[in-house]
Amino acid sequence: MDYNLKEIDTYAKKWVKEAGENIRASFPKTLNVTSKSNPNDLVTDIDKGTEKYFIEKIKGTYPNHRILGEEGYGDKVTALSGVVWIIDPIDGTMNFVHQQRNFAISIGIYIDGEGMIGLIYDVVHDELYHCIKGNGVYLNENSVPNLEPSIVSESIIALNATWVAPNKRINHELLIPLVKDVRGTRSYGSAAMEMVYVATGRIDAYLTPRLAPWDIAAGIIMIKELGGEATTLRGEEFNMLQENSLFVSKPGLHADILKNYLKDGKW
Ligand code: IPD
Ligand code: CA
Ligand code: CA
Repeated sequence: MDYNLKEIDTYAKKWVKEAGENIRASFPKTLNVTSKSNPNDLVTDIDKGTEKYFIEKIKGTYPNHRILGEEGYGDKVTALSGVVWIIDPIDGTMNFVHQQRNFAISIGIYIDGEGMIGLIYDVVHDELYHCIKGNGVYLNENSVPNLEPSIVSESIIALNATWVAPNKRINHELLIPLVKDVRGTRSYGSAAMEMVYVATGRIDAYLTPRLAPWDIAAGIIMIKELGGEATTLRGEEFNMLQENSLFVSKPGLHADILKNYLKDGKW
């Protein structure tokens, strides 16, 4: 398939900014909030409207591109051949509903299965993190430096309490040694934001038991581009057509935590 990465990236950035503008304009209005798989799995009319907005723009310009979107308005994607846009219209919907901050639009563009373009837009701060594979990562117009190695005792790691959810069947006690040994822990409530915090060195690692492809598609492209590591909690590659566990971190730290803290876990 013929494609022009630079052109796709230019459109993607334009549409993400426009979608963000629409989301900001929604703030004074009353949200229509419903729940999906459980009472805490929230979705709003803005999540749905934003996904539909992207689909209309992408299909209008690139009818052959396919879309894997969280809200299900895109295509039924069962293989990653061709150009596939993996979209989370609002990552951190609970934050969006409760706080109107700490959420992001996340888009990863995969070509024949390879992550080529990543965009994560912190709508409230008008901060667009973007990356074309091989061309570095930018925060708006500013280049983001490569990641430097870190050690456990000087690291801040992001985790969340979903480890203890009954359906996760993960023994969270396995994480206690790591939590004791790190400098600090954080939990922000948006996987995409947590991944750009790793990419920008604000935190050193992020680990979580189960995320969907749209939560991680953009972030892993950026972290790898900056010399960081992105794998499952078992140190394996992701399957972007299903849920995965996630462990992203600075170089060096990744191997250390995998070997010394995660290796016996039933992730
Ligand atoms: C959620 C957020 C959250 C993570 C959940 C995700 P959503 O995405 O990324 O941080 O812990 O697993 O589902 O539902 O707000 O798009
Ligand atoms: Ca999400
Ligand atoms: Ca979402």
